[in-house]
Amino acid sequence: MATYTTPETKEARTPVIENPRKDAYWLAPTTTIVVLVVFIIYATIRAFMGRYFATYNEGENFPWLAPMRLQPHYWSPFYSPYIPVHLRIGAWPISAALYVMILPLAFRLSCYFCRRVYYRAFFQDPGACAVRELFKHRHYTGETRWPTKIFNLHRYTFYIAVILVGFHWWHLYNAFFYTEAGQVHVGAGLGTLIFLIDTLALTLYTFSCHAFRHLIGGAVNWFSKAGWRYKTWRWVSWLNEYHGQFFWISLVTVMCADLYVYLVASGVFLDPRFF
Ligand code: FES
Repeated sequence: MATYTTPETKEARTPVIENPRKDAYWLAPTTTIVVLVVFIIYATIRAFMGRYFATYNEGENFPWLAPMRLQPHYWSPFYSPYIPVHLRIGAWPISAALYVMILPLAFRLSCYFCRRVYYRAFFQDPGACAVRELFKHRHYTGETRWPTKIFNLHRYTFYIAVILVGFHWWHLYNAFFYTEAGQVHVGAGLGTLIFLIDTLALTLYTFSCHAFRHLIGGAVNWFSKAGWRYKTWRWVSWLNEYHGQFFWISLVTVMCADLYVYLVASGVFLDPRFF
């Protein structure tokens, strides 16, 4: 005679495995927390500092007063593009970085890869695949409600990021010039190399974005008839596989580029020149 088990009986017989993973799955989220916290602390200090964000060429005044002249040799990416608005809260001047940092921040915080990273690291939601969530949801709603719904704006922050990449290339261009004895020379120093690496890293991070991949290859019904869009989509898809790596590399390089400008601008050391 057939026997039937009720759902309750089944549940009682099923051992509850709290955490089936025995490997060091916690290592990645923990490293993430350390790196992001270091970056956030560093960026906050630098944003509020409001100075040492450019190394000026000899004899030059503030560049925005003479826009047709050579721009400062090195310009911190944290203060780019520079917005010459000088507001105050009481006696406290508001640093120029605070006006612009919101733009790359919006792009990064809404990045699909970055969301996965901080959901895992900070919210343990979940900490890794096959790991129980720290906070149980009564209903899974994904990112269909506020405040996470705002992440839908990521596709628009991509356009802002493209403009920021343009400014990065402009600062890299300026890093190949310096002024000596009133003459403009072409040259390169250690800072030029750091700017080159940072600019390439940010460019790769931006153009491997999922939103860009969709922009190029989305809404195409026949790839065989899409011509350049199909070819570009294949390139972007290849780049997109490394999007996570580009995210981390560009996060570190942008910090290094700013730190380098700070050290040179504050007189800690002189920029070693290659030629
Ligand atoms: Fe990461 Fe767009 S998905 S930047």
